[in-house]
Amino acid sequence: MPDVHFNKKEGSKLKLFTPGPVYVPERILKELAKPNDTHRSKPYSEMHQLAVEGLKKLLYTENDCLLFSSSATGIMEACMRNLIKKDEKALVLSIGAFGDRWHSVGLTNEKDVVKEEVEWGKAITPEFASEALSKEKYSVVCLQSNETSTGVYNPLDKIIPIIKDSGALVCVDATSSMAGIKVEVDKLDIDVCLASVQKCFALPPGLAVCSISEAAIQKAAEVKNRGIYLDFLTLIKKNKVHQTPNTPPIPQIRGLVVQLDYILNKEGLESRFQRHKQLGMRTRMWVRDANLEMFPEKGYESDTVSTIKNTFNIDYSEMVSQMLMKGYRIVNGYGDLMGKTFRIGHMGEITLKDLEEMLEVLTDIISELRLKKLEN
Ligand SMILES: Cc1ncc(COP(=O)(O)O)c(C=O)c1O
Repeated sequence: MPDVHFNKKEGSKLKLFTPGPVYVPERILKELAKPNDTHRSKPYSEMHQLAVEGLKKLLYTENDCLLFSSSATGIMEACMRNLIKKDEKALVLSIGAFGDRWHSVGLTNEKDVVKEEVEWGKAITPEFASEALSKEKYSVVCLQSNETSTGVYNPLDKIIPIIKDSGALVCVDATSSMAGIKVEVDKLDIDVCLASVQKCFALPPGLAVCSISEAAIQKAAEVKNRGIYLDFLTLIKKNKVHQTPNTPPIPQIRGLVVQLDYILNKEGLESRFQRHKQLGMRTRMWVRDANLEMFPEKGYESDTVSTIKNTFNIDYSEMVSQMLMKGYRIVNGYGDLMGKTFRIGHMGEITLKDLEEMLEVLTDIISELRLKKLEN
């Protein structure tokens, strides 16, 4: 049995099949332990510049890219604070718990934000987006690419053109898909595309990144009360000299640079996206073979996280605990979906072989729980 507790001496031994934070490879852990110069030094600036250049390649963009000393929610809050004027309305197209979070972030910052939502498990359709946008004039529209609670991937290529036609800026929360699923920022004309690095980047939590368009920067200049810590304009100004306004998590940025180099030059972008596609397909194959059902509607399933229904009505908390005893962490459903679904994260550095091994263990545990249920 693995040590499932905080392991002071050696660190956690668990194999994480979670939708973040995820398994961090040894080569990155070693980078994080290396000493660095200060954040106002030339060596730091060189490192910062490499991170930004790598992000631009990853996101297929000429837009500037920013580094935030926060998790993804920090950038969601930055979008709300920087892009919406007092007399303007914003729209959130929600397909789950993290869409709802966009909405709460807006409301708690006293922004006039409207939420239009679809039933959980479904994606935003072009028709739904058109209908929502026809009701009011919105200056900003926020949505997820990958909704981590439901395991749904939105058809961005079909929705974003409709949003852009309305004249609104578009902010995409790509937290659980960036560096795992291809998003072409310039082709899609995304104004802010954001993520934290503890998911498909396979880095430890504590850093978030985004691309930002010229239009979004210009808009921020017109918005009052942007605050200090998350002000796009101060971040942009410092980014021009390859720095951040405040002290950033320097070891994390070293880790990001090394991982971007690995992604771009060793694994290769297309191979990385293909691996995630295969992980998604393989998980869905297992779901079918195990007579389980996917929660998302067919055709919109995510390739980085699978949300699976409780078809046999077994105790998913017990299943998660038993998996822990075998050394694997998978997770229960998120929020209202707890007990009704469970989730397998297959993102970051997970290989098909890793996934196969985990699924074998999970198959046995599900069979045991079904049997137990029949006996009772
Ligand atoms: C789609 C999505 N958006 C936002 C968040 C919030 O991310 P963070 O915890 O990095 O702020 C998450 C976290 O799971 C997420 O999956």
